[in-house]
Amino acid sequence: MLPAVRRNPTGVFMDAARRYGEVVYFRIGPRRGYLVTNPADVRHVLQDNARNYHKSPLYDKLRVLLGNGLLTSEGDFWLRQRRIAQPAFHRQRIAALAGVMADAAREAAARWEALASAGRPVVDVDEEMMRLTRTVVLRTLLGAELGPFAEQVDGAWKILNEHIGESFWSFGLTDWWPSARMRRFKSARAVLRGAVEHVIADRRRHASDSADLLSMLMAARDEETGEGMTDEQLRVEVMTFLLAGQETTSLALTWIWYLLSQNPPAQRRLERELDAVLDGRPPDYADLVNLPYTRMVIDEAMRLYPPAWGFSREALAEDRVSGFRVRRGWLVFVIPYVLHRLPAFWENPDVFDPERFAPERTAARPKFVYLPFGAGPRQCIGNQFALIEAHLILATLAQRYRLHLVPGHRVDAWPLITLRPRFGMPMVVERRQKLQ
Ligand code: HEM
Repeated sequence: MLPAVRRNPTGVFMDAARRYGEVVYFRIGPRRGYLVTNPADVRHVLQDNARNYHKSPLYDKLRVLLGNGLLTSEGDFWLRQRRIAQPAFHRQRIAALAGVMADAAREAAARWEALASAGRPVVDVDEEMMRLTRTVVLRTLLGAELGPFAEQVDGAWKILNEHIGESFWSFGLTDWWPSARMRRFKSARAVLRGAVEHVIADRRRHASDSADLLSMLMAARDEETGEGMTDEQLRVEVMTFLLAGQETTSLALTWIWYLLSQNPPAQRRLERELDAVLDGRPPDYADLVNLPYTRMVIDEAMRLYPPAWGFSREALAEDRVSGFRVRRGWLVFVIPYVLHRLPAFWENPDVFDPERFAPERTAARPKFVYLPFGAGPRQCIGNQFALIEAHLILATLAQRYRLHLVPGHRVDAWPLITLRPRFGMPMVVERRQKLQ
């Protein structure tokens, strides 16, 4: 089973759910467990009985990179970190950062404009979106550009992402080997740590009253104990936010551009909404509530291509799902990629149809079949941040440009830790006219 899962995890899980139903028993390498696709079981594992489930050993890869932080820790330590960070993610706080997000989107538009004027309008959309969301996270989180570190960090990210993605399903079997790959990983991790430490030290020296997330994390005190975070914990959390907050949102946007290019009616409807509501001026936070179709496009794209396509838990004590016995130490897989395509809940599941997310249709659907941000206590802390950011970026760029996939380019979803386009996403930028 392990080689097949490593080769094509989404295919294996999809096939298993189709053939065997709502609870599928698995042996993956040395581990046993279930894939669950029944909403009641998903809710049980992620929410109602969440105390019995820790993140599975597959997250050890992330722990090696990031250290013990919000994404990777458990128990009381996790709860304390979550409590400290939570206020920084309140909707009003994020609304205050929307200007930074919109500015970054306008800078990308200016870059595209320059390319279009020079007659070279092909962009690697995946790289463009990665750069854009990284700029947003850096500016909002650290109140900083990385300056002299930026180039090194760029190179380091690529190595780290691929290393973790490719070794994700190895259950630690090859990590101890001092291979050239491991050496590259360690030196890339050192570059990233160095950059983040530099930023934190700089902020400690020059206290700032800015409203970015780093200031909030530094100022935050645990409500019960009054303690703040040490520099070491800050480094871990800042790296966590950089990793968790950049790539996921960027991939959501990359898949959105791809899906729009393949679905002209949806693209036109989106453009009509942007033209009618914005009438040529750049969007800001207050406009978002008047751009519901733009948001439905985002939701539907994350249904078909959920950036966090699957996650897993380990049972701490014996339990049951749909009557089946889950032994202590067994894994439970919750795979949004599969849940989001179950014919029982989604008509014509492979079709891109943003109308599925019209409020009345969303209300009629069971909870726990749409989980791009997970669910329960470990639900994504950055979910509002990501949605506001994606909404602003899509509105800013789609208002002025239409993207076409480079003819003949092969698009293939590549499930590493996140769901990436295996061969990148080169697209031609077309300046668009206002639709009548
Ligand atoms: C479209 C964008 C995003 C997607 C699809 C996404 C998805 C997810 C998912 C599915 C989880 C839960 C994983 C699990 O239960 O095992 C998660 C957790 C997390 N995400 Fe996101 N995320 C996104 C954006 C962000 C942003 C922008 C940030 C921060 C700025 C962020 C920070 C985190 C953190 C810190 C956690 C761990 C929370 C905890 O365990 O308490 N994410 N994310």
